[in-house]
Amino acid sequence: MENEIVTLDPAELADRDAYRLLISVIIPRPIAWVSSMGLDGSHNLAPYSFFNAVSGSPPTVMFSVGQRAGQPKDTLRNIQETGEFVVNMADRILADKMVKTAGEWGYGVDEFSVADLETIPSAKVKPPRVALAPIAMEAKTTQIIPIDDSANTLILGQVVCFHIRTGLLLPKGTVDAKLFNPVARLGSADYATLGEILTILRPQV
Ligand SMILES: Cc1cc2nc3c(=O)[nH]c(=O)nc-3n(C[C@H](O)[C@H](O)[C@H](O)COP(=O)(O)O)c2cc1C
Repeated sequence: MENEIVTLDPAELADRDAYRLLISVIIPRPIAWVSSMGLDGSHNLAPYSFFNAVSGSPPTVMFSVGQRAGQPKDTLRNIQETGEFVVNMADRILADKMVKTAGEWGYGVDEFSVADLETIPSAKVKPPRVALAPIAMEAKTTQIIPIDDSANTLILGQVVCFHIRTGLLLPKGTVDAKLFNPVARLGSADYATLGEILTILRPQV
């Protein structure tokens, strides 16, 4: 089969176009639905799909926060102030509410209320969790790293507590992907759920 390729230099693309291209290429992206609190006690909730696990032991996650009109987004501001956050995972049922919390609501606006979401207290950090999230990970910030030549900042946090809905956790200690039914981000305003699941064993060398 022929594989004809278009080659693009990001330096020749407008910033916005490079971003739009990138997020349509690296798909599907998991979504960290991050709850945090300001020093003033205000609650904040917003989704971040520049997100992944970066270490297994200790379990560590990272996500990347851009700017809004040259200012830090509320999540970064809160984490700089308090050093704690929760990564809630959204399933298909919560997808619309998750996107609602991505509105550019001003500092101090409680997106739990905006999206009509109940909170539940966390065990080891101050920010509350999304009560109906099937999975949540409480985290303490370990590093805040500005990305060179970028308006984005990388936040790394150590997971200090996992919350997993009863029934999702399999006896072998992993989560049942189909029952979890996570929602992932594609490009533009598109999202995906899980399709075919392949089990492929590695060679025993
Ligand atoms: C599914 C989804 C994923 C997003 N991922 C990111 C991201 O990785 N980084 C980012 O800066 N903004 C991301 N955004 C936009 C933020 O959620 C949005 O700017 C939000 O208002 C930030 O809220 P905050 O100021 O309360 O932190 C995403 C939006 C959606 C809907």
